[in-house]
Amino acid sequence: MNKELVLVIDFGGQYNQLVARRIRECNVYCEIYSYKTEIYKIKAMKPKGIILTGGPSSCYEAGAAACSPELFELGIPVLGLCYGAQLMSHMLGGEVARATVREYGKTEVDIDETSRLFQGVTPHTVCWMSHFDYIARMAPGFRRIASTANCPVAAAEDEERKLYAIQFHPEVLHTVEGFKMLHNFVRGICGCSGDWRMDSFVEESISAIRRRVGKGKVLCALSGGVDSSVAAVLLSKAVGEQLTCVFVDHGLLRKNEGDEVERIFGPEGNYDLNFVRVNAQERFYARLAGVTEPEEKRKIIGGEFIRVFEEEARKIGAVDFLVQGTIYPDVVESGLGGESAVIKSHHNVGGLPACVDFREIVEPLRNLFKDEVRKVGLELGIPEQLVFRQPFPGPGLGIRIIGEVTAQKVRMVQDADAIYREEIAKAGLDRKINQYFAALTNMRSVGVMGDERTYEYAVALRAMETVDFMTAESAQIPYEVLQKVSSRIINEVSHVNRVLYDITSKPPGTIEFE
Ligand code: XMP
Repeated sequence: MNKELVLVIDFGGQYNQLVARRIRECNVYCEIYSYKTEIYKIKAMKPKGIILTGGPSSCYEAGAAACSPELFELGIPVLGLCYGAQLMSHMLGGEVARATVREYGKTEVDIDETSRLFQGVTPHTVCWMSHFDYIARMAPGFRRIASTANCPVAAAEDEERKLYAIQFHPEVLHTVEGFKMLHNFVRGICGCSGDWRMDSFVEESISAIRRRVGKGKVLCALSGGVDSSVAAVLLSKAVGEQLTCVFVDHGLLRKNEGDEVERIFGPEGNYDLNFVRVNAQERFYARLAGVTEPEEKRKIIGGEFIRVFEEEARKIGAVDFLVQGTIYPDVVESGLGGESAVIKSHHNVGGLPACVDFREIVEPLRNLFKDEVRKVGLELGIPEQLVFRQPFPGPGLGIRIIGEVTAQKVRMVQDADAIYREEIAKAGLDRKINQYFAALTNMRSVGVMGDERTYEYAVALRAMETVDFMTAESAQIPYEVLQKVSSRIINEVSHVNRVLYDITSKPPGTIEFE
């Protein structure tokens, strides 16, 4: 596997994962490593190309992030982006200086299309700039291949040594032809054939898992979310009934969700595995009785989850492997850049490894981005509705009910949420809005229904558009859709007499309504 590898050397830039995503979109496998990675390790990986990312430092300052100078002498093509471009120029004898004004945003750029990097790119195009420092003088041997009004060297190359420097960010979609530039680099200059595909990933992972697991016993905590489901199916295809999946239904899932998970993975489903559903609803409700503080609810749900799982694990006895649905952003964000094994410290499964008697962890998705995990899911024949499922918090509806959680309130929010989801799907918005759900406020107010006065709860609707879930805007759902949802919820869900639409963005709000 991964015969052709491109390394993305991370200098702490905010777009580092995006660079890696784009390279994989060129069907070239790549991995992200910290700039501190020793040169002998880089050489041992025999990369076809190396990309140096942006970063917050100034390369001429003492102690600035740097790489080994040997990196530029390996004969392997190197592309520096933003800070990476400045660092390359600085280390090879050019001059980098601080500009009087920061260049930021969409910028017109003139490029020299005779460069292999810019083959097929329009001579006058738009790029995304974000820098203070700039290349004041190119390193010896380099020639200028792009410029903007404020940036004399927007890109430079030394064809002979296969070194390329781009001041702007081709990985960002605002750089209109950026993808073409990255494609030219990895497929053209580095000569990668572009054979990284999800179907080959599936086949190769299955045989790798078989080799590793042998006749071992494997345990997986299945949440019904995308990552754990895809990981479970991969394991099931590889080792069948050596795998046991434990699904804890804490009674805080969306309407019918527990049954759907059971239908897919249970005895009537399509997969060869041992499926254990633990119906622990009552236990969770009992533990949550009288609790209103959101952090406390989270802790109780997380703690109880571990206890329930531990009891099941004890019934199963010692296992050889524990499956974790770790994905690449988890690995990168943990600061390890794919270098050593990490156990996902995730709120959903946090503490899980400690309560299970196992020998090793298997993380079949640890090199994949979320959308690649989805492609694998489709490749494996997992139903689309599961593959494209929205993020759902581990503590589930427990944190979408303000105030005390009761079985009745769970039913109310489940019903309201199901109506909301149904109408959003009918309006064709379900794949356009990244996350949407109903929450139950703890507010009761007066209304009138028929000839009767009511004093009931208000449901809050949330719908967020976001790329990274760190910041988000509320979606502008057409008014008719909101009206329809509102009238259906009030008519169909008892004890609700008002529906509110929450338009708070994140920040200052959060995506969840807890
Ligand atoms: P907030 O509310 O912090 O949510 O803006 C950001 C994203 O994280 C999800 N979220 C969670 N996911 N376990 C999870 O797996 C949790 O405890 C949890 N809390 C929030 C939330 O749904 C949103 O996508």
